[in-house]
Amino acid sequence: MKRTVLLITSAVWLLILVAFLLSPSSAKEKEKPKEEKPEPSPTAYNPYPPGILPADLDSELMRVQREIQGIEDATLVQAKALPPLTFTTNPPIIHLNGYQAVETLGKLFQYDLKMSPFENTACASCHMPYAAFSGPIPSVNLTMIAYPGSFHFRAGKRTAQRYPYSPDFPVMEYDTVQAAFIGGNFWDGRATGYILQSPDAHQAQGPPVDTQEMAFPDTACIAFRLQTAPYRFLFEEIFGEGSLDIKFPEDTEDICETPGGAAVFGTSVTPIKLNPSDRVRATEV
Ligand code: HEC
Repeated sequence: MKRTVLLITSAVWLLILVAFLLSPSSAKEKEKPKEEKPEPSPTAYNPYPPGILPADLDSELMRVQREIQGIEDATLVQAKALPPLTFTTNPPIIHLNGYQAVETLGKLFQYDLKMSPFENTACASCHMPYAAFSGPIPSVNLTMIAYPGSFHFRAGKRTAQRYPYSPDFPVMEYDTVQAAFIGGNFWDGRATGYILQSPDAHQAQGPPVDTQEMAFPDTACIAFRLQTAPYRFLFEEIFGEGSLDIKFPEDTEDICETPGGAAVFGTSVTPIKLNPSDRVRATEV
């Protein structure tokens, strides 16, 4: 009798164990895919007096994100439809569709939300075509003026410029005839363009690592995110095979999904530990 009870109890326990092992919840636990998107921005930062942050700010930011993603997706389709690039002459130039290819790649950069720690801010977040490449949220334009960056709601103090003509602005110089400074980018012309001989190129280096804009903690995060960008093929076709071959350490994603200025970084602006040649390549990218 005792033996039968023991047998039955063991069988019941065995059944429970098997049921537990096969249960969908534990199976799901095991196969849980690696988190793809970083966690949304931690507790939003709101140092502003009441009435500065517009009531519809969150929904408006989401609307703009959806619009940007739509443009990015459409541009990716265009990129994939580009005929193969043919390099001719020496030094090599892309024959026939080079202009189209470079333009498409630029557009893919401009609307890439992944170029920010929380994958929520692209250049276009503050520079949308239907607002003449300025800020696209009416309530923001009427209240805070400046646009929140990737870490909500850190924001600068100025409104985003309409920049369609800014690539044509000359390197800043003093015009003796008019007795005035001419050229440069930004409201105050501080992106003089002197070193790169292009104010626009000088300016564009800033936002990806500006703590109030896209907020990457390290410029190498740009190359890191490009390695997994769906348009990587186009980047490599234009800039050359191997141009994104950089060996990033294991903790790179953790670093790149933490906004610049976070206490963990101290004063370092190169928290990603790269060997010197990879650092040079990341800087070139
Ligand atoms: C969070 C909002 C924000 C984001 C994101 C942003 N910008 Fe801007 N942009 C601004 C503001 C604000 C200014 C003016 C700042 C100033 O004058 O000090 C500006 C100015 C510019 C200018 C100068 C235009 C001129 O006429 O002088 C250019 C060019 C520009 N941005 C390009 C970019 C690019 C490229 C990116 C992405 C890599 C980008 N911006 C991302 C807010 C933003």
